[in-house]
Amino acid sequence: MPGLRVLTPFLLSLALLLPASLRAADAQEMVKTVCAACHGVDGNSTDPVNPKLAGMDQEYLMRQLKAFAAGTRRDDAMSGIIATVDTSDFAKLAAYYGPQKPAPGKVLDAQLATKGRTLYEDGNTDSGVPACAGCHQSDGKGNARFPRLAGQHQAYTLKQLADYKSGRRATDPLMTTVGKRLTTDESKALAEYIAGL
Ligand code: HEC
Ligand code: HEC
Repeated sequence: MPGLRVLTPFLLSLALLLPASLRAADAQEMVKTVCAACHGVDGNSTDPVNPKLAGMDQEYLMRQLKAFAAGTRRDDAMSGIIATVDTSDFAKLAAYYGPQKPAPGKVLDAQLATKGRTLYEDGNTDSGVPACAGCHQSDGKGNARFPRLAGQHQAYTLKQLADYKSGRRATDPLMTTVGKRLTTDESKALAEYIAGL
């Protein structure tokens, strides 16, 4: 058997030559062991408290992982998990989840969704709530600056609007203002409409 001393440099140089596809497999391994229980292997979570990550902008996902690590965004489940993940793996995880195909959401209360549509398209001029469509787009698909909302679980969207309002999520001053101006009933209607986009 050739000595390990001879073999080790050979194995090391092999690792450096690993093609990108194998590094992607490495990301998938990590997703399977650490993230999939909550977010699914394909980024389409089934439990409505866990956000769907599929179809979201990679830079946006990266920023959120950094925000959990920095504590500007706090959540009982995610804050604990992120403390166990190396920051150098954030980009790889965002690059894995972002391009996955998003599964459509489901409207549970059509009447509520109709109320939400008016708010989403026009905002509420009395209380100074801006039209969501102005930034997140009419179809909710977002872009590099404004995150995708379309098809997201109601419970998750509702919690984010409440967290912006309370300051638990302090990742964006503008969304904090939006959160503070929304009533609970308005947030529920918006979350219902967004699920069906
Ligand atoms: C125990 C369940 C759980 C696990 C495991 C978990 N997450 Fe999360 N994740 C959540 C919850 C719940 C939220 C919503 C947090 C909030 O309300 O602020 C979240 C939010 C996120 C967000 C923000 C999404 C957005 O739209 O802003 C990203 C990105 C994310 N998780 C990535 C990951 C990655 C990558 C892993 C694996 C390293 C992971 N999560 C593991 C439960 C989990
Ligand atoms: C001026 C632009 C702008 C407007 C108007 C706006 N948003 Fe946002 N929204 C943003 C930005 C930027 C973010 C990402 C902020 C961050 O990093 O936390 C965001 C994030 C969100 C999130 C979190 C998404 C996630 O995956 O966690 C939700 C939910 C949301 N917005 C809902 C709304 C709703 C509902 C309205 C209308 C009442 C609205 N937004 C109006 C810019 C806007």
